[in-house]
Amino acid sequence: MTDKTILVTGGAGYIGSHVVRQLGGLGENIVVLDDLSTGFRRAVLHGELVVGNTGDVACLDKIFERFDVDTIMHFAARTIVPESVADPLRYYGNNTCATRMLLERAANAGVEHFVFSSTAAVYGIPEGGVAAETTPTEPINPYGLSKLMSEWMLRDLAAVSPLRHVTLRYFNVAGSDPEGRIGQSTPNATLLTKVACEAVVGKRESVSIFGTDYPTPDGTGVRDYIHVEDLADAHIKALCYLRDGGASTTLNCGYGHGYSVREVLNMVEQVAGCRLNVIEADRRDGDPPTLIAQAARIRETLGWEPALDDLEAIVASALNWEQRLAEDSWAA
Ligand code: UD1
Repeated sequence: MTDKTILVTGGAGYIGSHVVRQLGGLGENIVVLDDLSTGFRRAVLHGELVVGNTGDVACLDKIFERFDVDTIMHFAARTIVPESVADPLRYYGNNTCATRMLLERAANAGVEHFVFSSTAAVYGIPEGGVAAETTPTEPINPYGLSKLMSEWMLRDLAAVSPLRHVTLRYFNVAGSDPEGRIGQSTPNATLLTKVACEAVVGKRESVSIFGTDYPTPDGTGVRDYIHVEDLADAHIKALCYLRDGGASTTLNCGYGHGYSVREVLNMVEQVAGCRLNVIEADRRDGDPPTLIAQAARIRETLGWEPALDDLEAIVASALNWEQRLAEDSWAA
């Protein structure tokens, strides 16, 4: 812990709010910048919330004037693959252009550390479905490209400035705070685990499987699902690494093994103790068949050890949160 402040963009969103909760628990000084377009005021459990957009220069400069920011954790982004296919410029504007403004103002303010939320979508369709950090980046959707361009800007800035970064490429994040205070709350969610849990609590009639003819063992898409608590812990470890003088690096955040859509839905049925109304549908645009992390580098570099590598635990916490949302007006 230091006297400095950590600026968390998107800290009212799903992953950002879990990281803020862990940072706050460690006694860190935090300022959250979030435009609340998909985030929730109530999700910010620590620090001060500034409502504003990451691309807003005046807002950023005001934050840098008021707070002694040494670290930025940059979550603010649009993250839905099919939405990026339908509205690419929104993704390049919100994700890429806004990140450029943030980097410019951060460099101007002398920020030393940057933890960037990137994505496995930068890999596109890696050979064999498994991606190492050295695997060529060939995104197949605008979301992945919007993040990859941000990675490049960060890399190039770090090469000519004192800024050091840890770029974290997230695989499929799921689950919620085990104590049930925060969770995935986005309306019109598209995430498989969220959609399936919404069906359990009666918010949806059915769950569609997008594609049953993929070259995977059961024909449905395979992903590396990582518990949001483990992912948040990776951010804490990245912060410690940078504070200890660690060099800029890019790390996959996944467990290194995957589950198919059918396996996830079966687990939801098992945990919920009910049957889902499952519909077999066409493939969704922009989806790779399989996406699994080569997950050794993050363990070696950060000493990160996942504590919740268990699909049942992931699904149980996601369902717990969905039941909470169904019972009270948390997200209203
Ligand atoms: C998620 C993330 C994306 C990240 C990617 C990394 C979000 C909103 N998306 O995307 O940012 O880059 O992981 O791998 O955070 N599926 C169904 N039915 C549904 C929903 C999904 O069959 O109703 C299938 C999809 O076709 C896919 C799998 O489930 O095979 C996972 O999809 P989803 O949960 O939407 O995540 P990704 O698109 O992989």
